[in-house]
Amino acid sequence: MGEKNINVLSDTFDLYMKKGKEAKAKGNFALAKRNFLLASEAMMQMAKLSEGSLKQVRVERARRLVDIAENVGKTPVKATKADDKKNDAAQEEDDDIKKWQAAKIPNISFADVAGLEDVKKAITIKMINPVKYPEKYRLYGKKTGGGVLLYGPPGTGKTMIAKAIANEVGAKFYAVKGSDIVSKWVGDSEKNINSLFEEANKQERAIIFIDEMDSLIGKRGVDTHNDKRVNEFLQQIDGFSGRNPNLLLLGATNRPWDIDSAAMRSGRFSQKIYLPLPDAAARKFMIEKNMKGVPVAKDFDVDKVVEKTQLYSGADIEELCDRAKDEPLLQAIATDKIILVTNEDFDRVLGTFPPSVTQKELEEFENYNNEIDSILKKNKK
Ligand SMILES: Nc1ncnc2c1ncn2[C@@H]1O[C@H](COP(=O)(O)OP(=O)(O)OP(=O)(O)O)[C@@H](O)[C@H]1O
Ligand SMILES: [Mg+2]
Repeated sequence: MGEKNINVLSDTFDLYMKKGKEAKAKGNFALAKRNFLLASEAMMQMAKLSEGSLKQVRVERARRLVDIAENVGKTPVKATKADDKKNDAAQEEDDDIKKWQAAKIPNISFADVAGLEDVKKAITIKMINPVKYPEKYRLYGKKTGGGVLLYGPPGTGKTMIAKAIANEVGAKFYAVKGSDIVSKWVGDSEKNINSLFEEANKQERAIIFIDEMDSLIGKRGVDTHNDKRVNEFLQQIDGFSGRNPNLLLLGATNRPWDIDSAAMRSGRFSQKIYLPLPDAAARKFMIEKNMKGVPVAKDFDVDKVVEKTQLYSGADIEELCDRAKDEPLLQAIATDKIILVTNEDFDRVLGTFPPSVTQKELEEFENYNNEIDSILKKNKK
């Protein structure tokens, strides 16, 4: 039922936005305000029909439009022509593209990422070596370009790996969230996906990292805005794929099953990499790293913590270690003595802190991976 409504609403939204911008350009601010408010209303209706992060960004977008409507035509305090232009939504979006370019990425390397050896190897072949050894790749006629999609439960190191790649190849890093693009660019998203790729393409080396890919390129046929975005996105991938080995495209998602399947075809996001919850060895590495230099009891047994944290994600482990320090730290302050962290401190926190990934979510990933596996098995025959 919601499908038709969303399409009608998104067309209504486009229409009011267009009218609002036209009225504004002509200096008819009262009319512009009315149209922006109507556009906001349409966006709010769309939000009501949406779910999850998309719902949230649409609500935010609707609210922002009310602000824009209230301020349309108002002269900024420091009135110059440039300021006037700044009020324009289009200008705001251009500024965003520059903002997404991270000036400096924290110095994370593959060595900091626990476990995930297969993931690191696949990424080295697909993304790092083509940039480091282009002549070798040419010699072997090895294809470059296309994108890699990292998927898996939250907190398993997807963003961390993206940053490590950028460091490894010395690339400019453009980090965008699918939901941000949608919230800012409803109606104009095609144009802006295009300018993001253009901007990145100008750099000697760049990585476009798109988090929450599912909200950017969902399955087609439900929402016309989404469909336009998917089409533009596919064109952009096809356009640069294979031509510029120095432009890497990396996507991440917690919901790979929601992504449009055409985006996964060869030469596009042909490589999908699963980041599972950390295994015992990876958890041990993380706990030891988090407790490095911290005063722990002599009989502190890290393996006991490893055993008890089977379904905990990397992000959970970090949080757990941090919370385990709370009590000894409080006591250390109260007594002005060094109080050692013990296994009991971990147990106490574990008693109140369940893993953030639920069994049901894990099953969704298992089902999705099984589907892929059964295709692979058929291929092998
Ligand atoms: N494999 C790992 N090795 C070391 N630390 C990890 C690992 N996975 C997660 N962490 C820790 O968890 C934090 C969150 O990880 P990250 O942001 O990369 O997760 P994510 O997979 O991008 O999650 P989300 O899907 O919620 O965006 C990291 O800052 C890091 O401290
Ligand atoms: Mg992330």
